[in-house]
Amino acid sequence: MAVIEKGSFEVISRSPTQTRRVGMRLGELLLPGDVICLEGNLGAGKTTLAQGIASGWGSYDSVTSPSYVLVNVYRRLDQNQLYHLDAYRSSGPEEALDLDLDDMLSRGPLLVEWADRIQEAMPEDYLWMKMRFINDEQRDFIVHAKGERHKHILEKFREDVYGA
Ligand SMILES: Nc1ncnc2c1ncn2[C@@H]1O[C@H](COP(=O)(O)OP(=O)(O)OP(=O)(O)O)[C@@H](O)[C@H]1O
Ligand SMILES: [Mg+2]
Repeated sequence: MAVIEKGSFEVISRSPTQTRRVGMRLGELLLPGDVICLEGNLGAGKTTLAQGIASGWGSYDSVTSPSYVLVNVYRRLDQNQLYHLDAYRSSGPEEALDLDLDDMLSRGPLLVEWADRIQEAMPEDYLWMKMRFINDEQRDFIVHAKGERHKHILEKFREDVYGA
């Protein structure tokens, strides 16, 4: 484990299964209002991680990449919702600002792929994951957080991935 800067940490994943498992650890921690931003090139593993996050959160809907809509909504038995925004085809922050993110966040956590493309529209506080392709099987994730709540999530997430 490499410490990048205080309050950040790095995870190396060696398979899609491992990436999903890392996502599950994070998904288990999420509450309404929480924001998870994913940044990384094509094939970096954003959707694979999102599958794990949704499953750890308890979704009974399966994760698909939103292709014609900007946002997918996943449900759980207790009526909570998880919002999945893919900004790849977004025209930019303007379009994202038209979405009522506050309304979504009052109902559930929000997960954003290609968050860097609409960074200006992102809420003030978030957990951010920079995802990088290393080789066919390996991916590198660097996690940091902004705001007390998201720093708390980051700390729990780190403990769950590495052991306290
Ligand atoms: N360690 C790994 N973690 C995640 N995905 C991996 C890993 N090793 C190989 N892969 C493969 O890389 C691909 C990742 O695709 P995925 O759709 O998750 O990426 P993405 O970042 O969402 O890409 P896009 O920007 O095109 O939506 C999948 O085919 C997956 O099987
Ligand atoms: Mg994707």
